[in-house]
Amino acid sequence: MKFAVILSALIVGLASGQDAEKRSYRGDSVISAASQAAASALKDFLASGAVQQWGGNGTHSQLHIAAGKVKEVLNSLLKSNVGYEVLTEDLQQELDKENPTVASRLKNALKNGHNMDWTSYHRLDDFYTYMEYLAATYPKIASVGSAGKTIEGRELRYLKISSGAANPKKFWVDGGIHAREWVAPAAAAYVMRELVENRSKYASIVSNIDFYVMPLMNPDGYEHSATRERMWRKNRNRHQNGCIGVDLNRNWGFNWGTAGISHNPCDPQIYAGAKAFSEPETQAISKFILSIKNNLKAYISFHTYGQYILIPYAFDDVSKPSDFEELKRVAVKAQSAMKAVAGETYQVGHTPTLVGAAAGGSDDWAKGTVGVKYAYTFELRPTNYRVGFALPASQLAVASQEALAGVLAVAKEL
Ligand code: ARG
Ligand code: ZN
Repeated sequence: MKFAVILSALIVGLASGQDAEKRSYRGDSVISAASQAAASALKDFLASGAVQQWGGNGTHSQLHIAAGKVKEVLNSLLKSNVGYEVLTEDLQQELDKENPTVASRLKNALKNGHNMDWTSYHRLDDFYTYMEYLAATYPKIASVGSAGKTIEGRELRYLKISSGAANPKKFWVDGGIHAREWVAPAAAAYVMRELVENRSKYASIVSNIDFYVMPLMNPDGYEHSATRERMWRKNRNRHQNGCIGVDLNRNWGFNWGTAGISHNPCDPQIYAGAKAFSEPETQAISKFILSIKNNLKAYISFHTYGQYILIPYAFDDVSKPSDFEELKRVAVKAQSAMKAVAGETYQVGHTPTLVGAAAGGSDDWAKGTVGVKYAYTFELRPTNYRVGFALPASQLAVASQEALAGVLAVAKEL
């Protein structure tokens, strides 16, 4: 009897394409509360990972509470007189609306030579196959390269989109340094598509710019978030004490380790690593970026969420590059272009003011160490905190169009 139940559960699991070990977020809550007050009232919960801070806007942040801890956590807030608003009582319900790729799609006959589209989310394989497809189909414009390998041995692929110009300006675009921010790689893939497959539309803007696009800076984390824990953020480096992962956007070597980071390897979100560039991913990618630094004029890193165009620096609350106003001028151009797509506003400003200081980001390093003039982080859709990282795939196309519009607006100014 027992055996039959287990067996049928297994068959149901397999038939629905579900991974038996996939973490469910059923009953997990997301709330909004005053950042400072909540942080001190929930210190222990935050340290244990039972509560995770998602995003915030300086005053308020969103807190993700594990199902088993919801009552305790809300009681602690009440006791400490911290007000809160419940955004969702069941995170899994939001995730179920995302429209993730089912495993069988991957095995689909490659109808067009690839499976990529912007109506559903895709696994790593689909991204890398699409890049190969672009290179094979448009060999004069596109070529695939690898910057190196991740801790689990996956390739760190980029697509070079060549303008054919003699001494081109260079423009770097990346996504997916944070595993769960699924809109970012999709938007980066859309940038590749438009600049390769629909190149003639943008000819006047990109005629003397070579683009380097790395859609997945954290492929191990991305696959983990697709198969095991949707809310995973870090890479998959296993530490001596058994805890896993470094926040790759706290690991870059420009004023590393100063603010908005954790030195605890078990911190589920913002562990900065043992030292700057401790991770194979940041080592390999930084080395590659340095190899193309001559004439590298722009660096944009896609993240989600909140709809921001973030201007460095972020390693403390006050430091700005000397040409901050020029970066802001161009950011405002990007903002208008992005708004023109569908009326959505992306806020422009200094990173610590909009989302808080956090040292060791790739944008700070690109600006401060490499000297890339126009270095930004784009926080893409949504602003809707209830949905958070789980943007319904029905908005993926428009979110990607906005990201492209921002990139093109910056390209115009180079
Ligand atoms: N939400 C992003 C993060 O936490 C913001 C990155 C902005 N740049 C930075 N250097 N902190 O990584
Ligand atoms: Zn991020």
